Amino acid sequence: MGQSSNVVWHQGSVNRGRREGLNGHKGQVIWFTGLSGAGKSTIAHAVEERLYEMGCRTYVLDGDNVRHGLCGDLSFSVEDRQENIRRVGEIAKLFVDAGVIVLTAFISPLRSDRERVRELVGEDFNEVYCACPISECERRDVKGMYQRARRGEIKEFTGISSPYEEPENPELTIDSSVLSVDDSVDAVLALLMKRGVIV
Ligand code: PPS
Repeated sequence: MGQSSNVVWHQGSVNRGRREGLNGHKGQVIWFTGLSGAGKSTIAHAVEERLYEMGCRTYVLDGDNVRHGLCGDLSFSVEDRQENIRRVGEIAKLFVDAGVIVLTAFISPLRSDRERVRELVGEDFNEVYCACPISECERRDVKGMYQRARRGEIKEFTGISSPYEEPENPELTIDSSVLSVDDSVDAVLALLMKRGVIV
């Protein structure tokens, strides 16, 4: 999507670099993707907790929460998921401009949608694949949704009746059926150190 007509970008005197200087670190997107129940939200919030303790400015954008407001008008059709991810990508970009480390927890099932966000955000985008097998996600079934999807009560459920495309080249892969939450957090922090976001 492009821009509205007759609009001109306004650059304020407080820019990203100055905000980052105040925050003491770079803005960054940590984009968690994976099936429902794969651990995206749990790990994102645990990383946020650790970063917060380190004095970093953070925010978690979570699929379930964002769909209560900003994206409350969207369904789980392929088109609406695409629009969901487009909006979240734009918001994430604004957070980076604010100098914030934004952690996003969306299934974001389609490669092309995630790649669009990568292009939008640029070098500050980090894709973290929560690669938990569907058998384990279904065994956990924290919200009882897999059972309902199997019964046909939830249509277009990711992994059951709607596709999930695995990332081909994620910055990091975490399998929460193998790795503890603590170890997963360590892996994300190591990535942020390698990228020079935190020291
Ligand atoms: S997407 O695909 O990125 O637009 O989805 P997202 O915004 O992350 O929302 C996923 C959460 O919505 C609940 N839910 C569903 N998930 C998948 N398919 C269908 N049909 C569906 N209906 C509701 C589910 O609780 C997801 O939460 P998580 O945290 O991923 O388990």
